[in-house]
Amino acid sequence: MDKLLIGGSKPLNGDIRISGAKNSALPILAATLLADEPVTIGNLPHLNDITTMIELLGRMGVELMIDEKMCVEVHANTIKHLTAPYELVKTMRASILVLGPMLAHFGEAEVSLPGGCAIGSRPVDLHIRGLEAMGADILVEGGYIKAKTNGRLKGAHIYMDTVTVTGTENLLMAATLADGKTVIENAAREPEVIDLAECLIAMGADIRGHGSSTIEINGVPRLHGCRYNVLPDRVETGTYLVAAAATRGRVRVKDTREDILEAVLLKLDEAGAHISTGPDWIELDMKGARPKAVSLRTAPYPAFPTDMQAQFVAMNTVAEGTGAIVETVFENRFMHVQELRRMGAKIKLEGNTAIVEGVESLTGAPVMATDLRASASLVIAGLVAEGDTLVDRIYHIDRGYECIEEKMQLLGAKIRRLPG
Ligand code: UD1
Repeated sequence: MDKLLIGGSKPLNGDIRISGAKNSALPILAATLLADEPVTIGNLPHLNDITTMIELLGRMGVELMIDEKMCVEVHANTIKHLTAPYELVKTMRASILVLGPMLAHFGEAEVSLPGGCAIGSRPVDLHIRGLEAMGADILVEGGYIKAKTNGRLKGAHIYMDTVTVTGTENLLMAATLADGKTVIENAAREPEVIDLAECLIAMGADIRGHGSSTIEINGVPRLHGCRYNVLPDRVETGTYLVAAAATRGRVRVKDTREDILEAVLLKLDEAGAHISTGPDWIELDMKGARPKAVSLRTAPYPAFPTDMQAQFVAMNTVAEGTGAIVETVFENRFMHVQELRRMGAKIKLEGNTAIVEGVESLTGAPVMATDLRASASLVIAGLVAEGDTLVDRIYHIDRGYECIEEKMQLLGAKIRRLPG
């Protein structure tokens, strides 16, 4: 297994380009299954999760063409098997996103249940209930969700008990080809949901209210082809900005958008960062100062994203003062805390709150990545620590950060991949 070797105590300084958003690319690739004609998706990040989604489409017999710039052209009508097998779903929960499109377009789908994961139980009951409300017959048997519809799905009025991002996306996609009108209440408002809706609209879907908590979809008989570029990754953007803040550095991130990062930028401002922005870039400069500890609470968009929680815990470990970080989205998302403690961080866990007391500096240590965003926090901690940090199990990082060591090196970090 590959490892990352990081030498710390050096401010990051430089410019980098942000990749396309993983969490937009995954539902949008799944959405290509809805079209009758080829759909071409661009600005896809080079990530293991994207490769898994492409492999999943390939496994179902769908013909795809990938060019050197990672633009993918998908011909959904060539599909041969309506099954998403366990071997692939277990490596990536987001495979569940093919359920709604397959069922809506081809009348049938079998998708393995994703099961639990490192950050919590993560059920998919709301995906299933929503599709049942749209008239699907669903049986959960032998670890698989087996869904069928007699004719087209029917438009329905759906209230989501919990705000769920992929749940909203699955139902939104299914509703585009349903008979009649669907209303999704308490829908997720994440920028990636908006991006998916915009792509579906480019394919001919009739959608209103995306970006608000009520989305209205009028089903259409068919969707056609289109070309669509996914939006920039706000979590990758935020991660590099926090890394700059923690190391007292200066970083300019390009090809990104500030309007989708408001809650994160407010917290970085509170930490003492000087932030300037342009139409497609954000610059953060600590002017050599130590960050100030911040307190925050994660919640669905537009509140502070859970996917940025671990990185802020890492920044707080070396900040001035004490910050309380409350995690309200996932029940077990503090796996990084134990590893950070091994590097000298002072963190107390009280239920779903991490109370982080900043120390002057961390010391490098061998640590282990446990999930995607937790691993990003360990990289940040490695960058600020004295001495070398060896991060093991970095396949988690490769699921969500494109070329992390190259990008960090461009910012002057001492970081190297050790093939395992
Ligand atoms: C998505 C993101 C992930 C992010 C998360 C929260 C993708 C591919 N992944 O994950 O990076 O951390 O949103 O912003 O976009 N829940 C239920 N029943 C369901 C579905 C969800 O109870 O049927 C609960 C979950 O256990 C969790 C909460 O709802 O507590 C939010 O999860 P959800 O928004 O669904 O996360 P994902 O869509 O899996």
